Amino acid sequence: MKALVTGGTGFIGSHLTEALVRKGVKVRCLLRKTSDLKWLKGLPLEFVHGDCKDKASLEKAVRGVDWVLHLAGVTKAIKEETYFEVNGFGTENLVQACLENNPHLQKFIYMSSQAAAGPSRSRHNKKELDPCEPVSFYGRSKRVGEESVLTHAHELPVLILRPSAVYGPRDKDIFALFKCLSRRIKPCPIDPDQRLSLCYVEDIVQGILLAVETQTKSGEICFLSDGNDYRMEEIGDAVAQAMGITALRICVPKRMLLGIACFSDYLSKVIGRPLLLNKDKAEEMIQKNWVCDITTAKTLLGFEPRVPLSEGAKLTFEWYKKERWL
Ligand SMILES: NC(=O)c1ccc[n+]([C@@H]2O[C@H](COP(=O)([O-])OP(=O)(O)OC[C@H]3O[C@@H](n4cnc5c(N)ncnc54)[C@H](OP(=O)(O)O)[C@@H]3O)[C@@H](O)[C@H]2O)c1
Repeated sequence: MKALVTGGTGFIGSHLTEALVRKGVKVRCLLRKTSDLKWLKGLPLEFVHGDCKDKASLEKAVRGVDWVLHLAGVTKAIKEETYFEVNGFGTENLVQACLENNPHLQKFIYMSSQAAAGPSRSRHNKKELDPCEPVSFYGRSKRVGEESVLTHAHELPVLILRPSAVYGPRDKDIFALFKCLSRRIKPCPIDPDQRLSLCYVEDIVQGILLAVETQTKSGEICFLSDGNDYRMEEIGDAVAQAMGITALRICVPKRMLLGIACFSDYLSKVIGRPLLLNKDKAEEMIQKNWVCDITTAKTLLGFEPRVPLSEGAKLTFEWYKKERWL
């Protein structure tokens, strides 16, 4: 089998690429001129240059592969349009390139996000058929990507995955929590009841592999997480325990979070690089329930998350220490 992976240089994509190579799949990675190959060093890969924003550059990349695993995406940006250019129109470009250049494609996996569906408005975990109510530009752009894929579900064998927040080695986002805790600070939300789904990166990779290998009806959507709902504070406690430390609990009021996000937006414009926190991210962070239901992934794909937070946090912490991030 031969797969095209977009976003292979990124956090999740690099773990997926390694897993595909281990399974004996031939992997072609889409690269940009600026892509950093540090996580892919030493792997037997074929590289094709292209950018999701440029359809013509994708034609060569999609030719002759059995699977397209579309993970390329923008998760933080200075300008709102950037999310849509890559996550929305970039996905449409890739779908069009497949339709025009690969009539035998067996599976197109679109790595969407729980953000495309939006938070759950009740205490029930969000299900795939619930209405999509994204609250951020990122989430709306991932939903535009989903709509592009679904529009072509009758002519391309597509499947959409919606992972919760993902953590693990190489992640730079939830790393911020490890960093705060290493300074003995445990940031806590105002609302002690705020809940979140999470998933260790190896389990997400397992979900993607099952998604390509399992025969499914085109247009299916599956949430992916480790199947637990965590209160925000529980996550801080689990990570602190994995790190073997105790930390001072500091509440971050909503106004303060939004204030820091505004300043961060200003700073990112000055330095010309998107920062971890911005108003868009803060809008997501103040939502009460980011919990999803993974029954579809379990029944349709046979997905069984294996790594609980206690173990995933330990593995991640060990990696950060080994790589001297902490
Ligand atoms: N991390 C999470 O918690 C999470 C949760 C749910 C869903 N997701 C989704 O999972 C996917 C991967 O996330 P990640 O955390 O691994 O992201 P990441 O580490 O930021 O990696 C993003 C990847 O996308 C590539 N990319 C960005 N713009 C591109 C463009 N215009 N053309 C081609 N490639 C482009 C990047 O390539 P370069 O190396 O060239 O920059 C990089 O390989 C994303 O689609 C994201 O929306 C992530």
